Order: sequence, then structure tokens, then C-alpha cells
Amino acid sequence: MTITAKGLDGIIVGDTKLSQVNGEEGKLIYAGYDIDQVAHLSFEEVCHLFLFGNLANTDQKESLKQNLNNRYGIAQKISDFICENALNQDPMSTLRTAVSMLSTFRKEPDITNEAELKDCALDLIAKTSAITAAIASVRQGQSPIKAKPNFSFAQNFLYMSTGQECNETLVKTMDTALVLHMDHGFNASTFTARVVTSSLSDMISAVVAAIGSLKGPLHGGANTAVMNMLMEIGSIENIEPWLDNALSTKRKIMGFGHRVYKTVDPRAKHLKKMSQEWGEKTGQQKWFLMSQKLESLMFEKKGLNANVDFYSASTYYTMGIQPDMYTPIFAVARIVGWCAHIMEQLKDNRIMRPKSNYIGEINKIL
Ligand code: COA
Repeated sequence: MTITAKGLDGIIVGDTKLSQVNGEEGKLIYAGYDIDQVAHLSFEEVCHLFLFGNLANTDQKESLKQNLNNRYGIAQKISDFICENALNQDPMSTLRTAVSMLSTFRKEPDITNEAELKDCALDLIAKTSAITAAIASVRQGQSPIKAKPNFSFAQNFLYMSTGQECNETLVKTMDTALVLHMDHGFNASTFTARVVTSSLSDMISAVVAAIGSLKGPLHGGANTAVMNMLMEIGSIENIEPWLDNALSTKRKIMGFGHRVYKTVDPRAKHLKKMSQEWGEKTGQQKWFLMSQKLESLMFEKKGLNANVDFYSASTYYTMGIQPDMYTPIFAVARIVGWCAHIMEQLKDNRIMRPKSNYIGEINKIL
């Protein structure tokens, strides 16, 4: 009998030293460190862990910041493309095409040369941030904004997105959100990047494919969908009748459930705290309170926990970020994981080639 592992459920397709998702205990390990230990570090410190194998010390943090600072510039043609399309296209589609355009302006790295691969990864990380910020800026009626030379990654991302020098609290929240989204085992987009890489295709192709995978509402697209859902529900009183109706029609409730976590998603508790703090700070507690009620009802009625996307939605919303930009922000963080996985795949590669179970006819006659 053929057993089909639909959705590759429970299948281990490879080894990784980058991150471990422990679904039973609700733990996430980043290259040896529990997410709770590293969640409050900066983007640069944790990015350094994934690309260079250790959490950045003070000098390494400064040097990575400067390195990324030298790479934010994007070609005029890409900037023009963003200006022409960002207003009337899904931001993830604009991002996907703009990142793909990067291959016109840089040499493909030699996949056997680690230094060239890292150089490409750093370029992709900086330019994905600049492209995403430019999309946000154009969608708010502004032109793409140039990075500031001495700003950190999170500071520059917010600055390029808004044209404003953001306060420390905003920068700190963005840093934490980026760190929490940086890597997560063989999730759909990371696996996509590894599949593309396994044919010895190039790094930009693998990242573009990963962006396409992240866009879907069952994966990274869920954060935007959560905010749209909260707005559709509208008020705390509406939650229970809305939920009963949604569950009775077998609707998937965005931001809940996970293939691997059988308990609380360890990233969600950090985001829940951030959502509460931002709600209190801005006097917009409604979204946190609605989320909290939905979370307890979902557990009561379906036994399902909130995942990373659930509280990131209300956090970003109260920070003043437009819902359509939540998934691109996810990409700005996850690209670090994608690039690290692409390099890891290349070190011990075998082409990904699962079998399919043919269920069609075999005896048709012409
Ligand atoms: N809302 C309602 N029911 C859900 C649910 C949700 N968010 N997530 C899972 N379920 C139910 C399914 O309907 C199914 O029930 P059934 O066995 O009675 O048919 C069961 O739980 C298993 O769900 P399934 O979709 O098969 O799990 P999966 O492992 O294939 O999918 C997700 C995992 C994350 C894609 C899924 O939970 C989901 O669609 N969540 C909403 C989207 C989301 O938040 N994605 C971000 C993930 S980080």
C-alpha cells in the first residue's frame, strides 16, 4: 500500500544547524540559542548568527551595520518599477518582481564560493529592505527615500518606509519583530528556497521563489489576513457570533494553528506582549483586546493556539503600519533565514525529488 504524506506532514527531508522548531515543548532554537534569549537582541546581532555562525559582538555588529548601509541603493530601473506599480499591485507581487530584477544588476555568485554567496546574501538582505520600504513609501504618496549612513537596519527600514526618524521604542519593536521572524526550520518558503537551490539554481531565483511561497495566506500572508479579519469583525461584542458562524462554515481563522507546534508558538507570546504595550501606548487597545478574546475563544472551541502572525497584526497596526505591508515585512526578516538555508543546502546538496502517487488512468487507448 502506498502511504501519501500529504503536505509532507512528518517527513524529515534534511539536516540543518540553523533552527529547531520543537513542536511538543513549544520551543524555537536559533543556532543553539532559545528564542527567548535572543528575541530582544538587534537585527544585526542575530543576522550575524545566521550568516557568520556567532551572535555579533560590538565590533561585528557595527561592521555588519556599515556593510548593510553600503548596500541599500537600488538601480533606478527598480525604483521606477516600484513607483509605477506599488500603488495598484499587491505589495508582495511588487516585491517579488523587484527582487527578481536585482539579477539584472549584479553578477550571479559562484555557488562553490562561500564569500561570493555571502556577498550576494548581504546584498539581498539590504536591498529587500530598501525595496520593501520604497513600496511602503510610494503607497503613502511619497518617493523612495534614501537610507541614512549611520542608522541601524531596523532604524533605516523604518526611516526609508516613512521618511521620519523613528523613536527608540518603534525601532526596538521593529528589531524584535524582525528577529522573531528570522528563521523557522523547513517552513514552506524556506523549503521552497532549498528546493530551488537543490537544482543548483542561483540564490536570487531561490529567494524570489521563497517570496512567492511566503505570500500565501496559509504562510506569511496570514498576518495581513488577521488584520483584515479583525477589521471585518469590527468589535469585541461581534467576536463570538462571528467566530461561531465562521467555524460552522469551516472557515480557517487566520493566525491560528500550526503544523509543528502542538502548544503555544514561542514567538506569539513576545508579540502578544508587544501588541498589549502598543495598544496601551497609543490608546488603541481595541485590537489587542479583540485579539485576546478571539485567542481564548479559539482555544475553548477548537483547541487551537495563536501563531506568530496573530499578534504581529495588531502590533504592526498600532505602530501605524498599513496591513498590506505586514507580509513584506515578514520577508525583510525571513530573507536572512532563506539565504542561510540556501548556503547550508549547497554545502551538502542533493536534488529534491520526491515521488508522487499517480492516481490517474493508465489504460486509455487512442
Ligand atoms: N482555523 C480553523 N480550523 C483550523 C485552523 C484554523 N486556523 N487551523 C487548523 N484548523 C483545523 C482544520 O480545519 C483541520 O480540521 P479537520 O481535521 O476537522 O479538518 C485541523 O485543524 C488540521 O488543520 P490542517 O489545515 O490540516 O493543518 P495543517 O498543518 O495542514 O495547516 C496551517 C497548518 C497553519 C496552514 C493551518 O493551521 C492554517 O490554515 N492556519 C491559518 C493560517 C495561518 O495562520 N497561517 C500561518 C501559519 S504560521
